[in-house]
Amino acid sequence: MKKEVHQFFYEVYDSADELDPADAALLNKAKEVTVQAYAPYSRFRVGAAAKLDNGQVVTGTNQENASFPAGICAERVLMSAASSLYPGVPIDTLAVSYHNEIGSSDNPISPCGICRQSLQEFEQRTGKPIRLLLGGEKGPVYIFLQSGLLLPFAFTADEL
Ligand code: THU
Repeated sequence: MKKEVHQFFYEVYDSADELDPADAALLNKAKEVTVQAYAPYSRFRVGAAAKLDNGQVVTGTNQENASFPAGICAERVLMSAASSLYPGVPIDTLAVSYHNEIGSSDNPISPCGICRQSLQEFEQRTGKPIRLLLGGEKGPVYIFLQSGLLLPFAFTADEL
């Protein structure tokens, strides 16, 4: 038996002011679209904005349902929109922000497990890593160079 180590690096910025202007603008877009979320149950509005390789910016917000499991996260709404509008076009950078109506919005949130799985497959099928920018309304911002880093040992299409 031997033990293996899995590790990865990510960037931590004290605030969005430290980002380069294109990243700051994308994160700002993610913040802006939180008003379009439909989140009457959780009151937790999530906004996502992605820059595609063709230069287009696509957004998504969480869309909830009285039948709770029917709700869908902002990230997967975004990926569905992107791949419907621009099939096969890779996502270069995806920013996620949020507005918590009943609490603080000052720390980055990161994609849920199902979204990580979907992000992994989006990367795989378009052949390009998705840079992830995660930040709240203020406070620190995290940057991951590849969203697949968030789902080590993923189950992928290769296994089928
Ligand atoms: N949510 C997202 O849209 N993205 C995330 O990264 C985390 C959670 C949504 C799901 C649900 O509508 C609400 O936030 C609270 O979990």
